[in-house]
Parts: sequence; structure tokens; C-alpha cells
Amino acid sequence: MTTATAPGKIILFGEHAAVYGQPAIALPLSDKQATVKVEDAADRITLLLPNLATSYVLESEPNSADGDVPLVAALRLAQAAANVAQLPPLTITVDSTIPIAGGMGSGAATAAALIRAVLQHLGISADNQLISSLTYEVERLHHGTPSGIDNTVVSTNQAVWFVKQAPENLIEPIVIGAPFRLLIADTGIRSATKDVVGDVRRQWQANSEYFDSLFGRCGRLARRARVALNAGNLLELGALMTLNHVQLRRMSVSSRELDDLVDNALKAGALGAKLSGAGRGGIMLALVDSEKEETVREALEETGATSIWHSEVAAG
Ligand code: MEV
Repeated sequence: MTTATAPGKIILFGEHAAVYGQPAIALPLSDKQATVKVEDAADRITLLLPNLATSYVLESEPNSADGDVPLVAALRLAQAAANVAQLPPLTITVDSTIPIAGGMGSGAATAAALIRAVLQHLGISADNQLISSLTYEVERLHHGTPSGIDNTVVSTNQAVWFVKQAPENLIEPIVIGAPFRLLIADTGIRSATKDVVGDVRRQWQANSEYFDSLFGRCGRLARRARVALNAGNLLELGALMTLNHVQLRRMSVSSRELDDLVDNALKAGALGAKLSGAGRGGIMLALVDSEKEETVREALEETGATSIWHSEVAAG
């Protein structure tokens, strides 16, 4: 039996703008993760998705319908990378504690964990770069025009500075000068990244000057945030998060629920707050200190957050 995991992720700065080549910062979420188990089986290939109460029985060779299901596509990409024409009988079980369509990278993490587990099970050594690029292919099939930040952070399991660029994306580790804590609040509203990214693209096509200026502002905020993170300047970091939320609102990717959570977290003493991920649902982040954490949590609960998680980001 072979097991592999991949973490969820949060985007701290630069979602959407990342798709247009602006820098962004993402962090892995170690307490939310996808786990994939691969076992030899007697006579068939079964993909079990207990979180979705679904399973698939698959052929040993790829077929044209495989692309319809992201995790089947991930399996076929791993099969092609391993150069195996016929997969042996296997039982592949995908388990995840990352909410689906909630802004925490569930699709990327399950694909990355599956690709890693299958390649390992087939005896192929795969580095993070290969896992990331195969995961990107799955994202591309199902998310339209992803920047590449989600597959990068879930495959490297590291805080990253990410710039989409040709011929190769710029990916650098982020130095975190002082530990900080975040509250992550879920609106409970599911939102498909593909739809929101597609809608931003349509708006950008119709009004490119305005949208380019919003993306540029997000890029400048990300640059300042990297300096603040390096220096451990949490007051500055919080202020920059809130300014990033304002730009995301202007892009129309916020929602009343996200805005209320952000506003009430700030009123309750958060150092900064913003939506995170594609938006129009999913999650928001509040940067808190230990004194205000409980008050902010209560405010988020009262505002209607369906789940609230605490995440401690270590220095390093
Ligand atoms: C989604 O986690 C982040 C977006 O910027 C899309 C992307 O970068 O691929 C909204």
C-alpha cells in the first residue's frame, strides 16, 4: 500500500491578479489535507471518493471520457508520466478534510496527492516539480486559465512567492520573520473557481484598462506584503490584507457575506482581513493577535460563518 498527502492552501495576497502575471503569496494549510491510498487489487481499478459518496471503475487503458472527472484525469496523467500503457488492478481511495469549492485548494490537493501516490506505487520517483506540473494540467482541464499558484503550493507544501511568467513561472520561498495567526472563516457558500476566473476574464476583456490597474495594485500590495512578512511587521501585513480586499471588491469577486465577515472582523479588532481564493463564496482570512482572537472569532460566528478555523503560521 502507498499513501501520499497534500495540504490545502490559502492565498494571502494576489488572487485573480496572479492569473494576469502579478505576484501572489500563498501558504499551505497543514491541518487541512488530502490523503490518497493506493492498494493492489484482485481484478479491477477502482477509484473511491468517500467524501463525494462516489466511486468509479476504470479500464486499465485511458479512454476519451476520462477527462470529464478531474481525479480520473489526474490518474491518467500519472499513468502517462509513468509510461505505463496498462495500469494493474488497483484500489485508489481519496480522502480529504479540505472543503470542496471553498477557496482552500481542494481540487489541486486531491489531484497532487493522487498523482504522488500513484507514481510512488508504480515505482516512479517524482519530484515536487513533476507533481506540480501534472497537477497544473488537471487544473487547466477543469479551471480554465489557472495561474499555477494552487498546484505550486500544494505540491511544494511551502509558503511561496509566485509570479506567472514565460518561459517559467517564478517560484520563491517566502521568509516569514515572525509567527502569526489567522482565523479562516467559511461563508458556507460554494463557488466554482472556473466560473469566477472566467467572469473576471470577461470583465477584463470589456474594461482592460481598469482591470489592469486593479491587478497592478494587487501586485504592489503583494510586494509590500513580502517585505512586511520578512520583517515580521504584522500591523503592516494586516493593513495590506484589508487593502487587497478592497481591490477584490472592485473586481466584483467579493459578496455581501464576505464583506460582512471582513467588516465585522475588523470592527472586532482583527489587524487585517480579506477574502481568499476565487471569492463570491468560500473563505475569508482575519489576521489576529492572541488578545483579540476570541473577540474576532465571536464576531465571525455572529456574522454567520459556518466554520471557523485557526491557523498558526510559523516563522522560518
Ligand atoms: C484560486 O485559488 C486563485 C485564483 O487566483 C485563480 C488562479 O490563480 O489560478 C483565483
